Amino acid sequence: MREISTGVWEGTDYLPDTFEEWVQDPGASFQAAEEDGLVVGLQRLRPIAAGVMFYEGLRVAETHRRRGIGRAMLRHAIEEARSLGFERMRLYTGGTEAGAMFSSEGFRLLFDCAVWTASRVEGADPPRLAAPGDAPALAARVAEDPAFAVYGGVNASWHEVLDVDAALLERLAAEGLVRVGVQGRALALVRPGGRRRLPVTFLAGAGAALQDLVEELRFEADAVGLGGVAILAPERHPAAGDMREVGYDLAEDEGHAYGYQLDL
Ligand SMILES: CC(C)(COP(=O)(O)OP(=O)(O)OC[C@H]1O[C@@H](n2cnc3c(N)ncnc32)[C@H](O)[C@@H]1OP(=O)(O)O)[C@@H](O)C(=O)NCCC(=O)NCCS
Repeated sequence: MREISTGVWEGTDYLPDTFEEWVQDPGASFQAAEEDGLVVGLQRLRPIAAGVMFYEGLRVAETHRRRGIGRAMLRHAIEEARSLGFERMRLYTGGTEAGAMFSSEGFRLLFDCAVWTASRVEGADPPRLAAPGDAPALAARVAEDPAFAVYGGVNASWHEVLDVDAALLERLAAEGLVRVGVQGRALALVRPGGRRRLPVTFLAGAGAALQDLVEELRFEADAVGLGGVAILAPERHPAAGDMREVGYDLAEDEGHAYGYQLDL
């Protein structure tokens, strides 16, 4: 296992940490490709919503790359999802090598997010949390927001790329992960588990309401002892100017996050 992850994303691969859990998870299909009795490739399929299969953890051992193993594994996964009756397959990747392969197998890009960062700021109140009951109204507003389209209508969270709809907002609000600006005119979805920075995986709204919200996120980072905020948002996000206005910058050296979808 460690051999397969060596050299992936400068040694920051998450797979060694989740391996045992993945092997045991009955809700997902974890698959290995073998050659001469050695595991040379891994991948996992996991249902994340009605009709939606999530594809994750594709790895081919460095010693066995560029021989068609990755593509053969992906094709196998697509066939499996299709034969199980799923309508869509989605994936999230921080890598660029596999993009051409996903496109050539029919996937379309849902989002291409850069990382926008700002350091923490001391001294004022964090943003308001949405209540689960706010979800239908927020979802209706978000669906009309120009930001919705640049995210491909989904939340850019590496764990599960889900539609940003009332059901998701209700669940995330219940978990305390939805931040809202004045009168719901801006919205940020927070991902739990940020170790250095407060991670935001979806941002909608514009103007003063959005500026206030992303500024308040900097206060929140301070309040919870994180170094700052990291917002995943496309470079052409409609509120890019608003983010810059309140101190956010594109982290040019941090790479991008990509979401893909295949209609099965
Ligand atoms: C991406 C990865 C799984 C590809 O495995 P592989 O067995 O080498 O892939 P294949 O030989 O089947 O190649 C499939 C296609 O991927 C693309 N590709 C693979 N490696 C590439 C590279 N280094 N640079 C550019 N494109 C690359 C090409 O489009 C290739 O098609 P082609 O050979 O017809 O040009 C492997 O490089 C890997 O494990 N990388 C690290 C983890 C990762 O990025 N996983 C995918 C996202 S979760």
